[in-house]
Amino acid sequence: MCGIVGYVGARSAQDVVIEGLRRMEYRGYDSAGIALVADGTLAVDKRAGKLANLEKAIDERALPASTIGIGHTRWATHGAPTDVNAHPHLGSHGRLAVVHNGIIENFAALRDRIEDEGITVVSETDTEIAAHLLELQLESGEDLTTAMQRVCSRLEGAFTLVAVDAQDPDRVVAARRNSPLVVGLGEGENFLGSDVAAFIEHTREALELGQDQVVTITREGVEVTGFDGSPAEGKQYHVDWDLSAAEKDGHDWFMRKEIFEQPRAVADSLLGRMGADGLLQLDEVRLSDDELRDIDKIIIIACGTSFYAGMVAKYAIEHWCRIPVEVELASEFRYRDPILNYSTLVVAISQSGETADTLQAIRHARVQKSKVLAICNTNGSTIPRESDAVIYTHAGPEIGVASTKGFLTQLVACYLLALYLAQVKGTRYGDEIHQIVRQLEAMPAHIQDVLDRADEVYALAREYVDATSVLFLGRHAGYPVALEGALKLKELAYLHAEGFAAGELKHGPIALVDEGLPVLCVVPSRGRDQLHDKMVSGIQEVRARGARTLCLAEVGDTAIEPYADVLFRLPKVPTLLQPLVATVPLQLFACELATAKGHDVDQPRNLAKSVTVE
Ligand code: F6R
Repeated sequence: MCGIVGYVGARSAQDVVIEGLRRMEYRGYDSAGIALVADGTLAVDKRAGKLANLEKAIDERALPASTIGIGHTRWATHGAPTDVNAHPHLGSHGRLAVVHNGIIENFAALRDRIEDEGITVVSETDTEIAAHLLELQLESGEDLTTAMQRVCSRLEGAFTLVAVDAQDPDRVVAARRNSPLVVGLGEGENFLGSDVAAFIEHTREALELGQDQVVTITREGVEVTGFDGSPAEGKQYHVDWDLSAAEKDGHDWFMRKEIFEQPRAVADSLLGRMGADGLLQLDEVRLSDDELRDIDKIIIIACGTSFYAGMVAKYAIEHWCRIPVEVELASEFRYRDPILNYSTLVVAISQSGETADTLQAIRHARVQKSKVLAICNTNGSTIPRESDAVIYTHAGPEIGVASTKGFLTQLVACYLLALYLAQVKGTRYGDEIHQIVRQLEAMPAHIQDVLDRADEVYALAREYVDATSVLFLGRHAGYPVALEGALKLKELAYLHAEGFAAGELKHGPIALVDEGLPVLCVVPSRGRDQLHDKMVSGIQEVRARGARTLCLAEVGDTAIEPYADVLFRLPKVPTLLQPLVATVPLQLFACELATAKGHDVDQPRNLAKSVTVE
């Protein structure tokens, strides 16, 4: 969702804020804006469209020098992405500027009260209401910290607010409820950001905030309170990645860079998992082995790409642990009154750790007394903080809006979870677990092998620049891969793409097949011969109806050759682990096809990286 930056120190606030917004732009790019405090007034500029529009405007009409400011890059919720609706929003006397991420649910009632006071609301946003309320508090004589505490106590919904007061050049004040905000701790300067990427080039020391907290940053320090003004404390931590991890490294897109980082990301995900005692260990477990042994059902909840990782996890957990697993879209979960109790383990998969649908789902699960285990890539984010156990995926920052290394490392974490449960429950012998861990450790080299042949995939993708529809077929663990391949193509190339379980085709979707339709087929490894042969039959069926079959099949699989119009070879790996290699060509295909169509691959239209509204 929206990206937020705040700064107070000795540097040019404009430079720090704009640079921070550049790194936050993946969170939303419908509009961008900045407010600086200079000589007792606010200097503000805000523009619809990408950050580049704001930068151009500032180049043409310079803002005054300032060392304190806030900025925002927006993913629109209330009101269209226009200059007027862009943040920051100001109070009616232009004393207070605020930026906001989230949704203020009671904004309509608050707006009526503000209008009753004779204030004209100029935008369609809920944020402007907060600006007026804050300014009214300031004008009643309160300082910005107190004003923020008072106003937040009246707001309902999920929000991060960051504000400056024209008459107070020494403090930036922020608040959060169910929406991300971190503090960057510097020397003689401090920072605020939706995530640490906002300030990573200046400091790697960060402070995590709790729910319903207000934070005041000055040049000298940081003060945290509750909404009621009671003193509170954040949790300090060191960020274990640096600026270079957030740069493109010579690639045209962050997404492409992140695809090529996957061998390293998968290797990092596997690091340090085996203890000196030869047993697997997770990152944080606040659950005893006895509690885990009592688990008799697992429900995996996630959205989008993370949901597909959950589908793969189901195959692994059921096979290795013999525990029944349901996989559920987080947005649907709590509305169907799911059957949960203390012996249900809910596994929440989220790259960002802030996805509102997933967060609300785990809260529902915890109220029902279920244990929650998070698989997450973002240290200190809300979902792992509210869970009983965590496996971090250690992929490093994922900036491209379309998830790639996030997905592959989620798969690794899912396999590790399955093996960990098998270890605790005793459903697999230790040597079997070690053997699978060794197979996982071989995966970075296999992924690299696929990446080394990226040009083959690129050439194929460019052939389809005018395609209007692409189908993806898979079976077993290859089925979620097909769904993921289709999702990547939809979100990046904006073309109709659908993934199917190959066996389902004949029950309806085969009617879509037409002369020349490209059908990407994920062929299972041959160890499971029945599965493999059934997939080959499915491929024959679509080819007989005119489809052009683009097949991903392991080296040495000759059975597929007569039915593949194009054949891309995958390394030989066990069927259950095949998603780790089979997904990669599909990522490359979508990235290259979208590039050839002239799309912005890192910032596809209508999307945002971290979806913090339900
Ligand atoms: C697709 C994509 C999204 C996310 C989904 C969940 O490429 O990135 O579908 O997977 O929004 O996000 P997280 O994993 O952050 O909860």
